[in-house]
Amino acid sequence: MITAVLIGAGQRGAQVYADYARFHPNEIKIVAVAEPDGERRRLFAKEHNLPEEAVFSHWNELFEKGKLADSCMVCTQDRFHTEPVKKALELGYHVMCEKPMSPQPEECIEMGEYAGKYHKTLTICHVLRYSPFFTKIKEILDSGAVGDLVSIQHMECVGYWHQAHSFVRGNWRNSDESSPMILQKSCHDMDILAWLTGKQCQAVSSFGSLKHFREENAPEGAGTYCMKDCKAEASCPYSANKIYLRDEERYSDNFRKIVALSGTKEAVREALMEGPYGKCVYRCDNNVVDHQVVNLLFEDGITVSFTMCAFTYEESRTITIMGTGGQITGDMVKNKIEVRDFLTGNKTEYLLKTGNSGHSGSDEKFMQGFIRTVETDGAYSRSGAEVSVNSHLMALAAEESRVTGKTVYLEEYRSRFS
Ligand SMILES: NC(=O)c1ccc[n+]([C@@H]2O[C@H](COP(=O)([O-])OP(=O)(O)OC[C@H]3O[C@@H](n4cnc5c(N)ncnc54)[C@H](O)[C@@H]3O)[C@@H](O)[C@H]2O)c1
Repeated sequence: MITAVLIGAGQRGAQVYADYARFHPNEIKIVAVAEPDGERRRLFAKEHNLPEEAVFSHWNELFEKGKLADSCMVCTQDRFHTEPVKKALELGYHVMCEKPMSPQPEECIEMGEYAGKYHKTLTICHVLRYSPFFTKIKEILDSGAVGDLVSIQHMECVGYWHQAHSFVRGNWRNSDESSPMILQKSCHDMDILAWLTGKQCQAVSSFGSLKHFREENAPEGAGTYCMKDCKAEASCPYSANKIYLRDEERYSDNFRKIVALSGTKEAVREALMEGPYGKCVYRCDNNVVDHQVVNLLFEDGITVSFTMCAFTYEESRTITIMGTGGQITGDMVKNKIEVRDFLTGNKTEYLLKTGNSGHSGSDEKFMQGFIRTVETDGAYSRSGAEVSVNSHLMALAAEESRVTGKTVYLEEYRSRFS
């Protein structure tokens, strides 16, 4: 059993990682929390039976007490990871940090260096590395079943309603406040691609833009809030009323609890009247892309083409891996993988069991991996600092390429910030 302190009792911190602790008390126990939001802080303290002296409203107050546990989980927003991560490593905690580490390349590199300097583990929440789906694909690739890897085509289907929730109305709509979308959403994918290839990425080029969620595309009669003053609401697929209240296939408890902490229909309805999640998708202050493609060149001439797009019915990831002796195709939401052998024509199918946790079973497996990393003092590590810094730099280089229109070479890119 390990102990942990939590920095940031928000959606990820409280509802994913700390909830794992609540339901697996023999594996991990939360012994202190820092959270500025009073409602979240009180609820968290109650759920985890924390005494008053273990509850803080800022991470620096918690750290003033010295080292209180084996590990520290940093789950604040994208731009607020670096300082608490550095401080926790200094104090001797094994650290978990949400992705993205930071939108600044130099801060990602610095955090990695701190982990080395203080001889503590820094585990980044690249939860997909722990997913049953990608774990199986990695195993198949490494077994040599499809020969030598030549090329990968990978697609991240964001889902039209997920884009509207997180990247038009929500926390990651504006890169000046959070991160570019290729980092925020797709650092997972850059990380998976680096892991699957097992090679260094050498160069990236990228295109993409914010095509649809702009003022000039608002339909006739569109208002400012869907539930208040919109005449086009009934015919809009992005209507907040539809996404959070009407469309049973689309709304999820997770999303509702982000709109209003209790998650009840009544509280959600009230929050949508004038809150950020009730705004017209054509009248938000969003600037992140809604579609982006990235081409990547890895060592040994391995090529990858990656597409991230908002305009998909399913929220999923699909992949085709092409080797000299066969191919692998996979669909993460269906948890289905198919391997075809060129010589025999044989087809092998895998239907994976994933459990109910987020990201197709990844979140729970990630927590088990993190606990093992802490218990073994880093002897086991699947998403440690060094590999994660690398994949963050790939995402940041892709963004530079999208903005400048130039191919970015990773060695040169990294040398600018080291
Ligand atoms: N691993 C994944 O797949 C995944 C998925 C979604 C989000 N994320 C990332 O997780 C992070 C958190 O996202 P979220 O949705 O939980 O956000 P959130 O806003 O719900 O939670 C962040 C919390 O940090 C708290 N906080 C702010 N300042 C603080 C301080 N000084 N001390 C302590 N706490 C402080 C906020 O009050 C808030 O409750 C983000 O970086 C996000 O990009 C990762």
